[in-house]
Amino acid sequence: MKKEKILVIGAGGQLGTELIQGFWKVYGKDRIIATDIKEPQGILAQGNFELLDVMKPKQLQALLQKNKFTQLYHLAAVLSASGEKNPKSAWRLNMESLIHVLDEAVASKIEKVYWPSSIAVFGPSTPKDHTPQDTIMDPVTIYGISKQAGERWCEWYWRRYGLDVRSLRYPGLIGYKAQPGGGTTDYAVEIFLAALKEKKYECFLKRDAYLPMMYMEDAVKATIDLMETPAERIKVRSAYNISAMSFCPAEIAAAITKHIPEFQITYRPDFRQEIADTWPNSIDDSRARGDWGWKPEFDLQEMTTDILRNLSAF
Ligand code: SER
Repeated sequence: MKKEKILVIGAGGQLGTELIQGFWKVYGKDRIIATDIKEPQGILAQGNFELLDVMKPKQLQALLQKNKFTQLYHLAAVLSASGEKNPKSAWRLNMESLIHVLDEAVASKIEKVYWPSSIAVFGPSTPKDHTPQDTIMDPVTIYGISKQAGERWCEWYWRRYGLDVRSLRYPGLIGYKAQPGGGTTDYAVEIFLAALKEKKYECFLKRDAYLPMMYMEDAVKATIDLMETPAERIKVRSAYNISAMSFCPAEIAAAITKHIPEFQITYRPDFRQEIADTWPNSIDDSRARGDWGWKPEFDLQEMTTDILRNLSAF
């Protein structure tokens, strides 16, 4: 395999923490530099790490001058629920940082850039079931609007400069190694720790709020597979739909109850339910399957068993 040198921006978040560990296995620890605005927590401190505020252009330029990176991952973002509380700063971080990173990637001749999109690009007029790749997109959150605009920017940099930028529209990502921050799908992560510790969980979505979801193992695999695909097979330069499973809070609670019979869930929907109401129930990912062979491995039962086994071992 070709020797990569990978810079990850926003590595301290839920996705970054897991992706970094995936990169270490595939490319080797010495090939990766993780960066974040905050000091590294837990496992990230075991690899190369630099503090980086992506809103300060000079800091990124200095890092790019010091190292010859082949790939750049830009993961720093404010998620859907947090973004609604502080819309202008969410917009600035999500949008300005992306344009800045794309400019620096062109200037430094980075071979491949990755930037995550989300199911939040869809909205109330989007078909809810098996949402197609190309469809109506009318996002209602600042996060979703920034992801939709970001997709257009990525495609524009590819057309204008030939920048090899790739993206996935992640569903809700569920893992046990790092907590998410400020998302609408976070309940499906919080519920596992609550089930083990307290045997109960109060859910901020309704019992039948179906959303597309994915286990982190699959998300890491999808991301690395996409980035390892030869450029000529990447036909979507905005962001690919990808899917793995779709469930509602009552169904994940039932899956947990099989392992922890005394577990109880209660429901107290808040403003995040209104966001969830505008997102798809399930996603059609046939383009990703056809173009680069995407196929998920985990369903709800397998994921639940794996998470509970791992969390119980700590
Ligand atoms: N999981 C994200 C959120 O809830 C969606 O991409 O905001």
